[in-house]
This record gives sequence, C-alpha cells and structure tokens, in this order.
Amino acid sequence: MKDLFGQALLDYQNNNYTEDIITSTNISDEDTLPLPYLFRDYKDMPKLEQKALNLAQGSVLDVGCGAGGHSLYLQNKGLFVKSIDISEGAISVSKIRGVNHAYTASILDETEQFDTILLLMNGTGIFQKLSYVTKYLTHLKSLLKTNGQILIDSSDIQYMYEDEDGGLWIDTNANYYGELDYYLSYKGEKETPLTWLYLDFETLKTACLTVGLHCENIQEGDHFDYLAKLTISE
Ligand SMILES: C[S@@+](CC[C@H](N)C(=O)[O-])C[C@H]1O[C@@H](n2cnc3c(N)ncnc32)[C@H](O)[C@@H]1O
Repeated sequence: MKDLFGQALLDYQNNNYTEDIITSTNISDEDTLPLPYLFRDYKDMPKLEQKALNLAQGSVLDVGCGAGGHSLYLQNKGLFVKSIDISEGAISVSKIRGVNHAYTASILDETEQFDTILLLMNGTGIFQKLSYVTKYLTHLKSLLKTNGQILIDSSDIQYMYEDEDGGLWIDTNANYYGELDYYLSYKGEKETPLTWLYLDFETLKTACLTVGLHCENIQEGDHFDYLAKLTISE
C-alpha cells in the first residue's frame, strides 16, 4: 500500500490542500472524495454517525479512525478512546489533531477489550469480502467487554445495479453484489487496488447469528444506509 489516503490527509492537515482524492469501482465511474469531508466535525456528520457517537459509552475503540474526527469528539466528551488505522498518514494526522491514543495497526492485531467498538463510514468495508465477514466478526466479538457493543454502518448498494427501467443487472454467478474492487488515486498516483465490502443489513444479521452476535438495526439513513448495533447473544 502506498498510503495515498494518508498522504492526502497529511496534505490537508499541513495546509497543502490542492486536490481531492479520486475513487472509482468496478461498477461505477470516477467520483471525488473531498478532503474536507474527512475532517468533518460533529455538526457536519451524517445522522447515523451522530447517532453512533451518542450511543458510545465506556472505553471506545475507533477502528479505521482516519483523520480522527469521531475519536476527538468522544475524547472531548471525556471518554477513553483508542484509535487505530492501517494508514500511517492517518495516524500521524490524528496525533497532530490531538487524538491521545492513536496507533498504526490493523483491527486483526488488536487484543484489548472495549465497551464500544466503532466502525464508521461504511465500517463493513474493512471486512473486504463476504467470505471474510465471520473471521472479522469473531475477532471483533473477542474484543468486547461484558455488555459491550459494536456500532457499524453500511449500505445496501443494490440500487447501483439498477438500469433506467428499474431492472437489476446483478450477475447471480458473480461474487456478492456488495463486494467491490475499489480504486483510489491522488495527485495522479494510483493506489494498489483494494476490495471494499458494502453489506446489506439482512446479510450482516445472518453473519452475526453464526458467530453468536445479536444484530439490531438502530437507524436507517437517507440512502439505503443503516447503523447496526452488535452485542453478544445471551
Ligand atoms: C472510509 S475510511 C473512514 C475513516 C474514518 N472512520 C472516517 O469516518 O472519516 C476507512 C479507514 O479504515 C482504514 N482501514 C482499512 N482497513 C483497516 C484495518 N484492517 N484495520 C484498521 N483500519 C483499517 C483505512 O486506512 C481508512 O482510514
């Protein structure tokens, strides 16, 4: 990984903001990811993220913290927050912005236990593929304290396969429709392609059942997105 995402965050943080990140997928054309969005504060966050922050309590693990906006908000409320990201640039920016416990690490290497685990801005993306979901969920469950909760958002992207007549062109022989090849470029450089998973609520719920997690749909967003709360089944 070249960490172009982290480089973009560092540029913005260091007042070198000249370009946005460009993304595309195997089923969609180029789109811009505006860097200021990655530095949004509470009032500019989507309602689902605000809801997740309102529900967070106790010790918190912010997984894939990016520029640290969610961590900072909770830290300022007096909660203990540990923030991790595989992007070194993201962790540098989080530290500069005042996140107290920020570390370059993958979720799969985490071993401490928490009352709240946050995975926000399509948190299921980190699972990459449908076939990896139970591995990630089993690990996340092992990081929960008694009565702990995982707050995760995602979208059902079936709408992206609709043609003008409302028909669907999903290839039923292909992988799960939410599993996308994701391309990112910044300042003319291309990042190593990655797989990014959008998971509809029912599929997430079924996967949770298989690993002994209860999955509740806390709130629906404006565009097929939702916030789920995962807790250990009785
Ligand atoms: C879509 S961004 C969201 C950033 C931030 N949560 C936000 O809402 O602005 C996803 C983040 O997850 C990080 N990430 C991807 N895989 C990860 C993993 N296995 N463990 C920890 N972080 C990961 C990426 O580097 C990126 O910063």
